[in-house]
Amino acid sequence: MANKVERDEVTGVETTGHEWDGIKELNNPLPRWWVLVFYATIAFSVVWWILYPSWPTLTGYWGGILGSNQRLDLDRRMAEARAAQAQWLEKIATLDTEAVAADPELLSFAMRGGEVAFKENCAACHGLGGAGQFNYPSLADDDWLWGGTLADIEQTIRHGIRFYDDPDTRDSQMPAFGDILEREQVEDVVQYVLSLSGRAEDGEAAARGSEVFAEQCAACHGDDGRGMKELGAPNLTDGIWLYGGEPQDIRAQILKPRHGVMPAWQTRLEDEVIKMVTIYVHNLGGGE
Ligand code: HEC
Ligand code: HEC
Repeated sequence: MANKVERDEVTGVETTGHEWDGIKELNNPLPRWWVLVFYATIAFSVVWWILYPSWPTLTGYWGGILGSNQRLDLDRRMAEARAAQAQWLEKIATLDTEAVAADPELLSFAMRGGEVAFKENCAACHGLGGAGQFNYPSLADDDWLWGGTLADIEQTIRHGIRFYDDPDTRDSQMPAFGDILEREQVEDVVQYVLSLSGRAEDGEAAARGSEVFAEQCAACHGDDGRGMKELGAPNLTDGIWLYGGEPQDIRAQILKPRHGVMPAWQTRLEDEVIKMVTIYVHNLGGGE
């Protein structure tokens, strides 16, 4: 039955001889345009195989007679980009950060390079854009523990803070006052520190605390509590807190101070990268 040519009665078209539930399939020829396009794509692919990398061979692959190859193109473009960067990096290597920042073209290159390096190396602690987080200072305000000039920032980044593998690291230790002060003196000085940002709960205690402060704290935090950058002692008057500004936070720092550690980058990042990230941090919004 399948071999017998059968014609549909209505259209007169041959059927394929297949039948499902009384429905027969007509054997219409493919449209001519479709067949032509089909042959054209085959011809096109043959030409393409010859021109471009295509078939695997026993030892590798057919490379195409045009010699075009996106992987090689990419390598070439990367090499070009590196060569272009090298020019900028060489200049940055010979200049100090002040001079780099003074040249608008170098500055914009350094800002981009610095941003990438910051995201890779610093954002984990300091937050994206240097926004900071609890225990890690914001680098985007104009409040600096250790100083916000280009030179200060570069020094901090190169040698770190309390990072004793580096002999030039920034260092200072706030003493633990639990053994030095009486319990009441601690409470008094907590009130005094609160009063520096207008938040004392007990004025008399704060007044007593001011004497304790002058004796025990002013050497590092300054007579007026505005801090001292040579020692990384924070300004206690500005409402910006590294370890929190509530009475219990201040008490905790007095009794059992934290000593923030920041790694030194001198040995981990290339010289040019340190300069670029210095300039980036300086430009985050709070450079001095
Ligand atoms: C492991 C966490 C960590 C990483 C990573 C880190 N820092 Fe820090 N950084 C700190 C801490 C903690 C401090 C504050 C130390 C202190 O208490 O004085 C700090 C302080 C600083 C300061 C001084 C801020 C001031 O107010 O004077 C600068 C500048 C700085 N970091 C830049 C960077 C840069 C740039 C990078 C990336 C190359 C980086 N940091 C990576 C933890 C980190
Ligand atoms: C030897 C210097 C030194 C002395 C003395 C000292 N401090 Fe500090 N203090 C520091 C340093 C440095 C820090 C920052 C610690 C860090 O970055 O980890 C600090 C941090 C603080 C903080 C935390 C500030 C914040 O932003 O969270 C408070 C509060 C504070 N000190 C209060 C006092 C009081 C009160 C006294 C006196 C009883 C005192 N300090 C004596 C050096 C000192």
